[in-house]
Amino acid sequence: MTRSTPQGSDIAVDGGPRCPATGALAGDAPPPEPDGPTGLPLAWPVVGSTILYAADPPGFAVRAQQAHGSVVKLPMIPHNPTVQVTDPAAVRQILQGNADNYCRGAYYEAFRLFMGHGLLTLDDADWREHRKVVNPAFTPNAIAARSTETDAALADLTDRWAEHARTGRPFDLYTESMKLTCRVIGHALVGRDLSRDGGEFAGALGIALEAIFKEVGSLDKLAPAFVPTPYRRRVRRARRTLERVIAQAAWDADQGSGGEVAALIRASDLPEDAFWSDLVTLMLAGVETTALALAWTLYETARHPEVRDRLEEEADRVCGVRPPTAKDLDALPYTGRAVDEALRMHPPVWQFPRQTIADDVLAGRRIPAGTPVLISVYAAHRNPEQWADPDAFDPDRFTPKASAERDRSAYVPFGGGRRQCIGKRMGLGLLHQAVATVHGRFHLTLVGGAPRNGAFITLFPKRGIRVTVKERRR
Ligand code: HEM
Repeated sequence: MTRSTPQGSDIAVDGGPRCPATGALAGDAPPPEPDGPTGLPLAWPVVGSTILYAADPPGFAVRAQQAHGSVVKLPMIPHNPTVQVTDPAAVRQILQGNADNYCRGAYYEAFRLFMGHGLLTLDDADWREHRKVVNPAFTPNAIAARSTETDAALADLTDRWAEHARTGRPFDLYTESMKLTCRVIGHALVGRDLSRDGGEFAGALGIALEAIFKEVGSLDKLAPAFVPTPYRRRVRRARRTLERVIAQAAWDADQGSGGEVAALIRASDLPEDAFWSDLVTLMLAGVETTALALAWTLYETARHPEVRDRLEEEADRVCGVRPPTAKDLDALPYTGRAVDEALRMHPPVWQFPRQTIADDVLAGRRIPAGTPVLISVYAAHRNPEQWADPDAFDPDRFTPKASAERDRSAYVPFGGGRRQCIGKRMGLGLLHQAVATVHGRFHLTLVGGAPRNGAFITLFPKRGIRVTVKERRR
């Protein structure tokens, strides 16, 4: 008699005790550990992997998958080995089926540098309390109640772009997208337009995300703590900027004004430090990710005229000359698919970590207790077993039929299971409306070559994405 393991291979059911983690019989040979770079002295794979990784982290993730499969052991400094996972069934097992066996782990500890003990860094019951407190600000009704601010922010964006169209001067999509999300998400979190300080807040977010990434194993940490390297000075400045924003938010909340999320945390029984931890976490997790998704989407639609024509036709048919609102989004499915496809090719959170508590088996590979695991969203979204011609931009991969035929865990731009992104609905709604607004009114033309990937916690265009715009109807 046989039964299927979560990994799909059949094992005998009768006879002898089983390992509670892997389901294997006591006498069975253990499954092999993941494959990885081998055949060289240990020092070289460790140092070599780290150097190659640092040069192009997402590209390294794809090459590791191509060379060694979808559960691969990476010799990384300082968490050696780290297992990279891109197999959909294994991703599901980590995020859902066996989620109790995965904690935040060593990589997420680095996030505490800015995020303290909050929504992203806590485990289990502690995390649940934090999520329960802020959840009411992320329901469909709460998001709809803030739609006036989104409409106003998009109207201001189109006014600025109309001026760019008039002058013909190129501008950067990343900077413009950050202005939009600093305003809209700033309003939801702290009741203020966080784009109105000449880019200081936006810059602080970028530096904080870089510092968290480098906290794991960067050479910047080798200088003695008292040496004020330029990098350390930038990080200190970023912290001071965030401290100023959070202090203002606390003041506003105590006056009964300010943002919905700040008010929820202030009124809760969470520990005092949650005000900093959860607000900074939401800022770092929500503002730049959504801006990047918008910039990458417009980059792809600008360089695919056949996609752009369909977006324009859809916006014109549904909205005519008026700007789209949140109520139009269900009638703009192609626009939604273009966003989905951009999130596949350029996932702003391009990887995220966990750590095994007890041994597990992922795609037939034994993962010992205490192993750090990285779900590489970027490589999973380019896994040729799931995605035909993965480097091609094709929104029709996300028709309802095509999506239903695919393993849902092959596509995880917002993670999955109980720790799925709390801002998914809010972020997607804003993106959808912004892309429809832009294509309803403007033609975009890219200036210069393809942007190069930069990757810390997020995947960003290294020197921005420069475009010119023309008004479509004038
Ligand atoms: C396109 C935009 C976004 C992307 C791609 C994105 C991606 C992700 C991913 C992949 C995770 C899961 C991390 C993990 O499981 O370890 C996550 C979690 C999270 N995201 Fe987002 N996110 C986006 C927008 C937002 C927004 C708008 C907010 C809030 C304003 C937000 C707040 C959070 C928080 C607080 C978590 C942790 C949730 C928890 O563990 O309970 N994100 N996000």
